[in-house]
Amino acid sequence: MSRYALFGQSVAKSPSPQIHTAFARQTGIPMEYVGIDVAPEALDAALDAFVAGGGRGANVTVPHKEAAFARCAQLSERARLAGAVNTLRLDEGQWYGDNTDGAGLVRDLTGRHGLDLRGRRTLLLGAGGAARGVAPALLDAGVRELVIVNRSPERADALADALGQPGRAHTRYWEDLADIGDFELVINATSAGRHGSAPLSLPFALCSDMTAAVDLNYGDVAIPFLAWARTARLRTIVDGLGMLVEQAAESFERWHGVRPQTDAVYAELRKGAPEPVAA
Ligand code: ATR
Repeated sequence: MSRYALFGQSVAKSPSPQIHTAFARQTGIPMEYVGIDVAPEALDAALDAFVAGGGRGANVTVPHKEAAFARCAQLSERARLAGAVNTLRLDEGQWYGDNTDGAGLVRDLTGRHGLDLRGRRTLLLGAGGAARGVAPALLDAGVRELVIVNRSPERADALADALGQPGRAHTRYWEDLADIGDFELVINATSAGRHGSAPLSLPFALCSDMTAAVDLNYGDVAIPFLAWARTARLRTIVDGLGMLVEQAAESFERWHGVRPQTDAVYAELRKGAPEPVAA
C-alpha cells in the first residue's frame, strides 16, 4: 500500500483524505492518504520521515506551499510561475513539485459550472500563494484582462511581473477598487476572514449583470464574500469546494496516471456545505 498525505496546519478538518480515499476506491488503486499537521519549522523533517516511512507523494497546503516549492529538485512550469507547490511526487528519491490549483479552478468553473472564461475582464483579489496558483491558469483559459489587486501592492506587482503579460495582466491599488469599473469575473483569492481576521468589504461597483463571483475558499471563510455576491444579485456564485475536488483529481492523476471521476465525491461533500445560491 503506497502512502500519501496532506501536509498543512490544522488539517484535521480537511476533506482531502476523504476525497483521495474515494478516488482510490473508485480506481482500485491501493493507497493510504492521511492529514499531517506540521509547524513551518518542522516541515523538512516531517517530509524526510514521511519518505523514510514509505511516502510516495503529498499535497501541501497553507502555510507550506512556498517552503515545499523550495524543497523540490524539479518543478512543473505552472509551479515555477506560481512560486508555490501543492503537489509533491517522489521521483527517484527527489521531490518533483507541481501546482494543480489553477487547473482545478478552471476545470470546476468551465466543466461543473459551465462558465466560458474566454474574453472575460477578470479581477483577482489577493496575491498570496492561492492567487499565484490560479493566475497562470486563468490566462491560459483565455480571460481577456487580469487585474490583480492586493492589500500590499508590491505583492500584486510581483505577481504581474512573474506572469509576464503586461498587456493582459496588470495591477491596481486596493484603494481604487470603487473606481476601476466592473468585471465579468471576480475571484476572491485572499485569506481575509481566516484565523478570525476581518472579512473583505467590497464595492458593488465591481459588478454588472454579467459578473460571476468565485471564492477560492469554502465553508465559513467564504460566507462574507458569497453574501456580498448575493446582495449584488449575481447569477453565478461559486465557492472553492469544486476547485478543491478538482485540484485533488489533478494531483491523483500526477501520482497514479489515472484521472478519477469527481462528481460523486463533490456531491457527497456538498451535502455538508450548502450550495452558494444566487438571490
Ligand atoms: P494563501 O496561500 O491562502 O494565498 P497567503 O500567501 O498568506 O495565503 O496570502 C494571503 C492573501 O490574502 C494575501 O494576498 C493577503 O494580502 P497581503 O499580501 O496584503 O497580506 C490577503 N489578505 C489577507 N487578509 C486580508 C484582508 N483582511 N484584506 C485584504 N486582503 C487580505
